[in-house]
Amino acid sequence: MNKLLSGLILLVIPMLAGASARPDNTGGDAQDIANGRQVYEQYCAACHGAQGEGAANWKKRDNKGEMPAPPHNETGHTWRHSDDRLFGIIANGQRHPFNKTDRLTMPAFGTRLTDQEIRAVINYLKTLWTDEQRKFQATESQ
Ligand code: HEC
Repeated sequence: MNKLLSGLILLVIPMLAGASARPDNTGGDAQDIANGRQVYEQYCAACHGAQGEGAANWKKRDNKGEMPAPPHNETGHTWRHSDDRLFGIIANGQRHPFNKTDRLTMPAFGTRLTDQEIRAVINYLKTLWTDEQRKFQATESQ
């Protein structure tokens, strides 16, 4: 093969691969992510913030002795959890073990959202992370 041709092939193959892979590595297509965003705005933004920035002072217990809603963007720790774990938290709810109350401060959405909506909102959250975080989380999810 001549040099020019092999050079061209080396150039084109990654371009083709890049075109078919999802550029943002989120695991959802554009429609899925748009659905996820809608779910987020309707059901999650009130506590976790319009841009996923979390409640103010989310690292400190509030005056009820409960941990406030953490961010979902790159400043939080949502990206540290695998897809399965995130699904479980969203479907079944969660409370911080050291909260002074017993209620689920993170409400359970398993009866209000379909499995598909939960997966879509997880894919939307992935768009709020850095590339590095997405890669870490993708590995955790395997
Ligand atoms: C009523 C307020 C409220 C609503 C609404 C809410 N959350 Fe939460 N969420 C919380 C709180 C508070 C926590 C922290 C629970 C704890 O202390 O463990 C939390 C935690 C989480 C976590 C774990 C984050 C981590 O880093 O460990 C995920 C994921 C999550 N929420 C996703 C969602 C999604 C998705 C929605 C919408 C479908 C949603 N939440 C709606 C209050 C809320």
